[in-house]
Amino acid sequence: MTTRFLTGAFAPATDEVTAFDLPVTGRIPVELNGRYLRNGPNPLGLEDPEAYHLFVGEGMVHGVRLRDGRAEWYRNRWVRSRDVASRLGEEWPGDPDGADFDFAPNTHVLGHAGRTLALVEAGPRPYELSYELDTVGPFDFGGTLPGAYTAHTKHDPRTGELHAVAYHFGWEYIQYLVVDAWGAVTRTVNVPVQDGPMIHDFALTERHVILYDLPVTFSMELAAGGARLPYAWNPAHPARVGIMPRDGDGSSVRWIDIDPCFVFHTLNAYEDGDRLVVDVARYPEMLVGGRLEEIPAPALDRWTIDPAAGKLSSQRVDDRPQEFPRVDERLVSEPHRYGYTVSAAELLRTKAGEALLKHDYVTGVAEVREFAAGAAVGEAVFAPRSPDAAEDDGYVMALAFDPERGATDLVILAAQDFTGEPVARVHLPTRVPVGFHGSWVPDQN
Ligand SMILES: [Fe+2]
Repeated sequence: MTTRFLTGAFAPATDEVTAFDLPVTGRIPVELNGRYLRNGPNPLGLEDPEAYHLFVGEGMVHGVRLRDGRAEWYRNRWVRSRDVASRLGEEWPGDPDGADFDFAPNTHVLGHAGRTLALVEAGPRPYELSYELDTVGPFDFGGTLPGAYTAHTKHDPRTGELHAVAYHFGWEYIQYLVVDAWGAVTRTVNVPVQDGPMIHDFALTERHVILYDLPVTFSMELAAGGARLPYAWNPAHPARVGIMPRDGDGSSVRWIDIDPCFVFHTLNAYEDGDRLVVDVARYPEMLVGGRLEEIPAPALDRWTIDPAAGKLSSQRVDDRPQEFPRVDERLVSEPHRYGYTVSAAELLRTKAGEALLKHDYVTGVAEVREFAAGAAVGEAVFAPRSPDAAEDDGYVMALAFDPERGATDLVILAAQDFTGEPVARVHLPTRVPVGFHGSWVPDQN
């Protein structure tokens, strides 16, 4: 076994667990009614561990349901792709005629239009899950999704629409998609690109869509060699950022060349007069030779774009290694003051320690909340105290392993007392491996 992504904090869960009435230290805020959900790769029945790539492990969704100040349940469930269902000896709930390019989405999980969706990029369809995280089946937005989707959507708080940018190695374009508040694709725009770039995320402002066409591209050489994720750093591919009016088409994108870099994640973006502000976690390079084992340290940067002049200036906000930037989701595409990130020490293999960071973009100060060594703290997800509470008036939730207990906690921090005692620690009955993204999905009523 040569990859570090199958051992230690990454070691996959081997069982599906259901537990009720979880023990809690502290008090779960009674206003948190809903589910904290998180997705991540959790390979099942690996035939060749040496060929394992972190991005291709089958998705497992972990969930904690909070209600009336109690942690009602914890569940973890593999997403039943056809292959996962087969390995588990179950009937696959999908349509056998629609099994092409099937995969158990492992990157994100969110709620939209009353559905729970597990998402992944690069081609495979989303999967719908039940409230209790059982697999309903592949989901193509009621037959309206033309092909690929993404893991990183942007929910527009003004319209309730879900915006996305999808890619597929067989496409000579990337595709901007809008899903309406009821869960149907209402708009697609194909934007021509070269070389098959990996487009993990994008940015959305009130009037614009911001596209990242960066030098990680499909590699025929890696694909021919059997790589399960045939994407690699490609110095011959120009790095550029595209600005497209929301109502524009593929020919209306204004491309701005930038220094080579890679961005997995946007914190948020917004319009500031005639300029666009985009906060990102930026890497100097990524997937060199297709390898992910050693990841160069990302830092938090702010891009200020002048679309009329075709200029982008980059400013370093925080040079500590950090990833998984998040914002109060009610402010996606609008100005934000605060952002939350995590040191991701296990993933990035840095010596920065285990910590969550809260950035105040007005004062330029970041608060750092440290965790025990080995905590493998995950992404910080913000939940407002009430639907109309002010920005940052709410809770930051993250999974953190408790080395003493040998299991993972859902840690709930008061966002405005970021370095104080957690409001609550929900003690899960098991260890949750390092994973990717998640959501707070409030109950509908
Ligand atoms: Fe991501």
